[in-house]
Amino acid sequence: MEEVFRIEGGHRLVGDVEISGSKNATVALIPAAVLANAPVTIAGVPDIMDVDNLSAILRELNVSVTEKTSHLIIDPTHMRNVDLVSDAVTKLRASYYFMGALLGKYGYVRIKMPGGCYLGPRPIDLHLKGFEALGASVDYEKGCYTIKADHLWGTKIFLDIASVGATINIMLAAVCAEGRTTIENAAKEPEIIDVATFLNKMGADIHGAGTNVIVIDGVQTLSGCVHEIIPDRIEAGTFVILSAAMGDDVRITNIIPQHIEALTSKLTEMGADLDIRVDSILVHRPRSILKATDIVTRPYPGFATDLQQPLTAVLTQADGISQVKDTVYKERFKHCLELQRMGADIELGDGVAAIKGPTRLYGDKVTATDLRCGACLIIAGLVADGVTEIHDIYHIDRGYGKIDEKLRKIGATIVREVIA
Ligand code: EPU
Repeated sequence: MEEVFRIEGGHRLVGDVEISGSKNATVALIPAAVLANAPVTIAGVPDIMDVDNLSAILRELNVSVTEKTSHLIIDPTHMRNVDLVSDAVTKLRASYYFMGALLGKYGYVRIKMPGGCYLGPRPIDLHLKGFEALGASVDYEKGCYTIKADHLWGTKIFLDIASVGATINIMLAAVCAEGRTTIENAAKEPEIIDVATFLNKMGADIHGAGTNVIVIDGVQTLSGCVHEIIPDRIEAGTFVILSAAMGDDVRITNIIPQHIEALTSKLTEMGADLDIRVDSILVHRPRSILKATDIVTRPYPGFATDLQQPLTAVLTQADGISQVKDTVYKERFKHCLELQRMGADIELGDGVAAIKGPTRLYGDKVTATDLRCGACLIIAGLVADGVTEIHDIYHIDRGYGKIDEKLRKIGATIVREVIA
C-alpha cells in the first residue's frame, strides 16, 4: 500500500493560498525548546511529518507535547536525557539539533546518525568541530554519536562553510556555555534569526544573527516563552513559481517577500507578472511566454538551493536555454531525470543542468526522490498534458503541509490515492 499524487495537468489556477510557518525554522525550534526549564509555546507550526517525528523524539525524552491548531506547547519540566536511537531520529535530518540542545543542557548526548533527503554527501563535520571547540568530545560507533563535556567553554569558531545546520547547532550548544562564543562565517538564513530570536525570548544573550558573525554570551538557565514562527520562504517560493507557470490570478499570503527576493527578481527577469506587496504576492498570468534564465544557487541571500528544483520545472516551459548550477549541493539534480521522463530536454553536467525550452511535458509515473524534487514534479504535473502520478510522496509530506488541499483550493486537479 502506497500513497501517490495524481495530477491532471493544464488547469489554470486562481485564488488565495496562505503560506504556513517555516519548516526549516520549526525543525530547529522544537529541539531548541528542550533547553527551557518551563513550558514553551510555538505558534504557526506547519502540519508536516517532520514535526510529527520531532514530537515523537520529544516524547521519548519525556517532554510533554500538546498540539492545538498550529500551536505546540512543549513542556520539558520532567525531561529525561535518554539515548536517541529510535527510527524517528533517522526519518529527518534536523534530529541533529538534539545534539546541540542536549549537549548544551546536560553535557551529554547519544544519538543515531540523522536521516533526511539524499542530496549527495551531507557531512556534519562542522557541527562536530564546533562542539569540540566548546570543549566536548565526540565518538562515533555503530551508527551512533556520543558527544559529552564536563563543562562547555565559550570560544571563537570559524566555519569553513557557512552551514545553516552547524550555525544553529553551535548556537544551541553555546547558549548556556561559560563565557562568550563567537561564530564567524556564520550562515545568514532567516531561519537562523528566528532561532536566535526564540532563544533570546527564553533568556539567551545572542547578537548578530542574520550577519556572518554571531556572538553568544552564555547564560545559566533558559525559561519558557511564546514564539510565532516566520513564514516558510521555500513554500512561498514554490507557490510563486507554480503560479508564474499556471496562475491567472493567485494571491500568496503570509509571506515575507524580502526572503525570496532572489527568486522574484529572477522570475520578473523571465517575464513573470508579480505584484509584490508588504506580506503577499499577487501573481498574474504573464503577457507572453517566459524567457529562459540562468541560476546559480548560493547561501542566503543568494538563490536558494531548495528552490532550484521547483524552478527547473518552469524552465522547461521557458523560451531558450537555461543553465542551473547548484553550488550548495552539487548532486541535487535527481529531479531532472524524472523531468526527462516527462519529456523535458535537459542535459546534465557536473553540478549543472542545461534546460532547453519550451518543451511539452507529458504526464507519466514519476518518483519524488527528495522533498523539493517532489515539489518540482507537482509543478511539472500541473503544466503537463495528461495525468502525472507521483510516487514516494512521503518526501513531500515531510515538508509541505497539505499541499494537495492548498492546490485544490486554487483550482488544481490533484488527488491523493492509495494504491496497492
Ligand atoms: N556542509 C559540510 N559540513 C557540515 C555541514 C554542511 O560540508 O558540517 C556542507 C553541506 O554538505 C552543503 C553545505 O555545507 O554542501 C551547506 O549545508 P548546510 O549545513 O547549510 O545545510 P543543512 O543545514 O544540512 C539546511 C536545510 C536544507 C537546505 C540547506 C541549504 C534544514 C533542516 N535543512 O540544510 O533544506 O537545503 O540548509 O540552505 O534546515 C530542504 O528544506 O529541502 C532542505 C534540504
